[in-house]
Amino acid sequence: MKSILDYETVTLVDEDDAIEIIDQTLLPGTIEIIRLHTAKEIWDAIYLLQVRGAPAIGVSAGMGLYLLMKHSKAGSYEEFVKELEEKSNYLNSSRPTAVNLSWALKRMKAHVEKTYSENRDAGDWEDIRKVLVESMRKECELIKAQDIDVCRKIGEYGLTLLKDGDGILTHCNAGQLATCKYGTATAPMYLAHEKGYKIRAYCDETRPLLQGARLTAFELHSAGIDTTLLCDNMSASLMKSGAVNIVFTGCDRVAANGDAANKIGTSMVALAAKRYGVPFYICAPTSTIDIGTRTGDEIKIEQRKPEEVTDMWYKERMAPEDINVYNPAFDVTDNELISGIITEYGILRAPYDKAIDDLFNSKKE
Ligand code: MRU
Repeated sequence: MKSILDYETVTLVDEDDAIEIIDQTLLPGTIEIIRLHTAKEIWDAIYLLQVRGAPAIGVSAGMGLYLLMKHSKAGSYEEFVKELEEKSNYLNSSRPTAVNLSWALKRMKAHVEKTYSENRDAGDWEDIRKVLVESMRKECELIKAQDIDVCRKIGEYGLTLLKDGDGILTHCNAGQLATCKYGTATAPMYLAHEKGYKIRAYCDETRPLLQGARLTAFELHSAGIDTTLLCDNMSASLMKSGAVNIVFTGCDRVAANGDAANKIGTSMVALAAKRYGVPFYICAPTSTIDIGTRTGDEIKIEQRKPEEVTDMWYKERMAPEDINVYNPAFDVTDNELISGIITEYGILRAPYDKAIDDLFNSKKE
């Protein structure tokens, strides 16, 4: 029987001018594959978390921008760029915290500029438009292919921190469903499992949207990994018991000083891990590191609807009518609580401002 890991998180179906995704709001009960065609459908799918997780959002946005420009009627390069900017701004407004969204859109726009500068004399505007559109298709497929490669490398570096028998705690879903394969926080677990290590994975349920229960526990359990689910308020006692050797989480935006925004509740896990001496690692593709944001205080945190806390998943409302609700989707883990940031280039250690600066300088060379 087909497992959830046999499905692609995001696929470009070019012949149908569509992006194909698994509707993640229906998991684990129903695996429904849906196609997104219009700008509004793509925007809604990102906003509603039908496709979610920083890297998967980036890949969807890149493919979305390509599809929205594929049949552009722009009569000149200037008009094409204006339309590109408008469509990109629209997609970028779907969620504010994960930097991979704006990263992928910027990358697609920069690629169009580069392709134009190399082909501006390649024929009349219609010929050039076709070249630009084709180059956008290749670039969004490349973003996807690179995501798989990057996650694998994060997995390999993460694996060096593991040994047979380890207990690994994770929060939210930084798994295959949040990326195009392997995940980031789950990649070391998949590789450890492949290697024959008997690891124990612990998944925080992750209130209010239950990504840990519905997605991470589903993925890891489907892979045959020994998986245990716990409510978010149980992770401190689990760490105190000695069952957890290491924590791996994903992230949505790492500031230049190493402060890391991830799913709400991550900072509580990091605080408890520090108290109980459990190493706490953030898994971050460099596309999630935002050197334009100096510290975590500058990261915009998405606020979501109160009903996610008061009503969702319950048979009846579980809070008084008109109660005030605090529902930020992310929090920022202070860099001093982080033992290391695992990237595709290796594991960054404190002081993070220097490590991140060195990494980005070496990437330029
Ligand atoms: O609101 P979500 O489900 O998109 O939040 C996802 C997370 O917080 C993940 O940990 C993060 O995006 C990293 S995914 C590799």
